[in-house]
Amino acid sequence: MCGIVGFIGTSNAKNIIIDGLKKLEYRGYDSSGIALFQNGGLKIKKTIGRIANLENAMLGGDYESPGGIGHTRWATHGAPSDVNAHPHSNMAGTIAVVHNGIIENYVELREWLTKEHGVIFLSETDTEVIAHLISLYYENDLVDAVYKAVAKMRGAYAIGAIAANEPDKIVAVRKDSPLVVGLGEDCNFIASDIPALLKYVRKVYLIENNETVILTKNDVKIFDKDRNEIKRDVFHVTWDAVEAEKDGYDHFMLKEIHEQPKCIEETLSRRLTADGKIVLDGISMTKEDIESFNKVCIVACGTAYHAGLVGKTVIEKFAKIPVEVDVASEFRYRDPFVDDKTLFIAISQSGETLDTLAALREAKRRGARVLSVVNVVGSSVSRESDDVFYTWAGPEIAVASTKAYTTQLVCMYLIALYMGLTKGSLDREEFDRVITELKAIPEKLKTLLTKEPVIADLAKTFYKTEQVFFIGRGVDVGVSYEGSLKLKEISYINSFAVAAGELKHGTIALIEQGTLVIALATQDALYEKMVSNVQEVKARGAVVIGFAKEGNQAIENQADKVFYIPECRDEISPLLSVVPLQMLAYYIAKLRGCDIDKPKNLAKSVTVE
Ligand code: AGP
Repeated sequence: MCGIVGFIGTSNAKNIIIDGLKKLEYRGYDSSGIALFQNGGLKIKKTIGRIANLENAMLGGDYESPGGIGHTRWATHGAPSDVNAHPHSNMAGTIAVVHNGIIENYVELREWLTKEHGVIFLSETDTEVIAHLISLYYENDLVDAVYKAVAKMRGAYAIGAIAANEPDKIVAVRKDSPLVVGLGEDCNFIASDIPALLKYVRKVYLIENNETVILTKNDVKIFDKDRNEIKRDVFHVTWDAVEAEKDGYDHFMLKEIHEQPKCIEETLSRRLTADGKIVLDGISMTKEDIESFNKVCIVACGTAYHAGLVGKTVIEKFAKIPVEVDVASEFRYRDPFVDDKTLFIAISQSGETLDTLAALREAKRRGARVLSVVNVVGSSVSRESDDVFYTWAGPEIAVASTKAYTTQLVCMYLIALYMGLTKGSLDREEFDRVITELKAIPEKLKTLLTKEPVIADLAKTFYKTEQVFFIGRGVDVGVSYEGSLKLKEISYINSFAVAAGELKHGTIALIEQGTLVIALATQDALYEKMVSNVQEVKARGAVVIGFAKEGNQAIENQADKVFYIPECRDEISPLLSVVPLQMLAYYIAKLRGCDIDKPKNLAKSVTVE
């Protein structure tokens, strides 16, 4: 997620804006920039990398100014670079814009501005379109030009705009991306989030969707999309900066668990056209390429590997092609059967995991086509792949991966469906049925998240346990592995995942009176067998928490507790069933007093072998 900051006052704008950007660093970014009113024009500086790079680039220069806008960029369209960093300006450099969000119709706008109005674009970003649109409509009235520009745009945005010959104001607009206004003495602010303002103000306006804000140093006015002025109550901020970065949640992990409905919606919506087709941006595989593959290798580590396990099930089911799934640290040393008929899929949230990167290089050396599913734009894995499919989950701060996992699953489904439809192994009706189910997931997830207190209560019952078994069948095996990893990595409880059918081949020797077993029974096709497995462990004294789809109540006769997830197709259920497991791990770890966001011995990205 990008961060925007704007300030209009009397002086020292540069330091105040830089300060604010630093308070938004937690949102993750790869470049930053600033645009300031100066001497009748705009002074713009922007650099790739940390904010310190921007400060160094400005050392010794004259940046005295009463106001301006600043930005930290989390790349979506266009790799991290100086030229892709914000602010973006019109060709004359008299209009500057910062933006958080995505302009969904930027390609058509870019073509129209280029062909019809001779605009020369400097960057690869969607944001630059906004600066040129405002410039196109600008007749010495920035507010009017912004309204006209916004009317042409589709997507999500929080925008800050300034014009050289109106150095007393900032115009900001909000649609779906967050925007707040800070109310100071002889100065006013805009920002993506409250932490950027806390050093200077405690009184803020929370801007709603489709509202436009006009800021001068002594006045703030808010208007609706029809330009009617709105009166807004002042919100008095009582929390401190650290709490504010977590948006009021106690930990980034819980915040990121709750972000999943929106992340999944974003990962899906940008790839589904209005007429129900899949557009896999960043993927240049042709029909011939897809038909030439005789197998798929999915390679990853940890949580990303668990997403690959689900990917195997759905790619084999919909694309009718054999899939191998491997942990990266094993793949590269097993002399794998890989050649130019292999599609190698690397899954990595950070895109910097050395094991995964080394496995990718080995696969390329052997001639494979490499597609990566990555969250961090411009990361090493993405740069070394033939095709990249971004999860667009936004920065994942907590070491324990949650929203990256579920958006990785969405990418697996989209790849499987795309390949199946392209190859003809999946008919259009089935394709449409699955797409419809995927689209329904964000709302079902929101419903599921309202049951958080039930999970918190379950955690109170079981948080002192020292050993837990997760069991499942079908795709629930992969989800069991993921649930077990979540629990062990943040609560330090000895947890194991095992295919339920495997219990009798050894593991059941460990089940004794009071052993906690978490049984995933979401697969209709395997439900009866799972109920039998629950019976099997109950007979040996286990305490069982069952997870099943609403309506499948037979498990209640066996399990001690049952948590229901909303009805959905078997293949899609991991997007729902994993969330109560994430929350259960979170609340157990919280009750055990663990450092949830930074567990001992772990790093967010493992860049060593
Ligand atoms: C997941 O909760 C862990 N933090 C860890 O297993 C992680 O998934 C693994 O290290 C892979 O990281 P990547 O997705 O950035 O490659």
